Amino acid sequence: MKGQRTTDNRQQTLSNNIIRNQYSLLDLNTMGFKVVAKNFYEINSLKDIDQLIENNVFCNEKTLILGGGSNILFSDEYFDGTVIHSNLKGITINPEDDSESSDPQILKSSNPEFLIVRCMSGEVWKDFVDFTIDNNLYGLENLVDIPGSVGASPVQNIGAYGVEVKDCIDCVYTIDLTNGDRVIFRNEECHFAYRDSIFKREENKKYFIVAIDFKLRCNGQLNLEYGNIKDYLEKNDIVSPTLSDVAKAIKNIRAEKLPEVGVVGSVGSFFQNPIVDEDIFRRLKELYPEMPSYPNENGVKIPAGWLIDKAGWKSYKENHVGVWDKQALVLVHYGGGKPEEILNLMKKIQDSVKEKFGIEIKPEVNIV
Ligand code: EPU
Repeated sequence: MKGQRTTDNRQQTLSNNIIRNQYSLLDLNTMGFKVVAKNFYEINSLKDIDQLIENNVFCNEKTLILGGGSNILFSDEYFDGTVIHSNLKGITINPEDDSESSDPQILKSSNPEFLIVRCMSGEVWKDFVDFTIDNNLYGLENLVDIPGSVGASPVQNIGAYGVEVKDCIDCVYTIDLTNGDRVIFRNEECHFAYRDSIFKREENKKYFIVAIDFKLRCNGQLNLEYGNIKDYLEKNDIVSPTLSDVAKAIKNIRAEKLPEVGVVGSVGSFFQNPIVDEDIFRRLKELYPEMPSYPNENGVKIPAGWLIDKAGWKSYKENHVGVWDKQALVLVHYGGGKPEEILNLMKKIQDSVKEKFGIEIKPEVNIV
């Protein structure tokens, strides 16, 4: 499903910035819709952003900061505004360290508990996680193979297999697109929550994420508690798993459940897992004793995938879209369809879950 860029992309010059008009976002939305943006800016250096700000590029236009497009659903095939995409690259270990070396093996020889790894926002998330595993740095191994860019990871506080990215973020470096100010958010200032952070709020969409400092353990404990990680390791006779054993296990578990990015259009989990209060939970548990549930500080989390599955939607197909046969939380686009088909399917599923269980399920994907 990987797309070609449109051939009629005209290039204008604004100093050394590359500006493209009527730009195809086909390979920048993993749902795989043929979306075109009125304006598109690829940011290759901080100077690029400063120039755009000086030229008031963001003042009058609807602006969207787009990472890898793996958690976004365009509701229309034309985006009548400006898309800004980070292509900032680079990974530095212990950036504030005075010594010349950034070799993790040398840095680790002084036996530190943690290393700080600074990663630029345009790096690909899964490559960055592989880098940390190759260098025996602990913390992100349960988040392997999540599609998208590093810059997008704090926005919705990506999470999988019992770990959330907030657990490893030290701080987030941003630029305020309205005035060019450099603003640093420490972990606690990001107000991370389940698939949420301050960067998701409308008033904070002006912050362009430049880089993130991750605090990664040099000798860590592996988190094997979630779901079937232990089963997988047992089945494969792995008694004392290493960092890379766990990463490999999760890669395999993910591949069994989720559609392959670039082959079938999807955004991973389409809905958030709803959190219901104790009364609703008890009523449902009586009716469905087998229902999985995870208590947390705000109530009880029920897997939306289970609700959708139980409501009979798994494997459902309608024209170019459907519900993934191995994980009902994932809506898929088989190609050739339009965003409205997914939006219609979303609505039908929401209505049916509401009718059957009395629970409202909300999209996890950002709909723009
Ligand atoms: N379930 C079903 N039928 C289904 C899907 C799930 O019965 O079709 C049941 C499972 O058997 C299990 C429970 O629901 O008992 C939970 O399922 P799973 O472990 O697959 O996790 P999830 O809650 O559906 C969440 C994240 C995923 C993440 C997995 C693993 C959300 C919205 N989704 O899914 O994240 O990979 O846990 O940690 O929190 C993503 O955000 O794109 C994503 C894939």
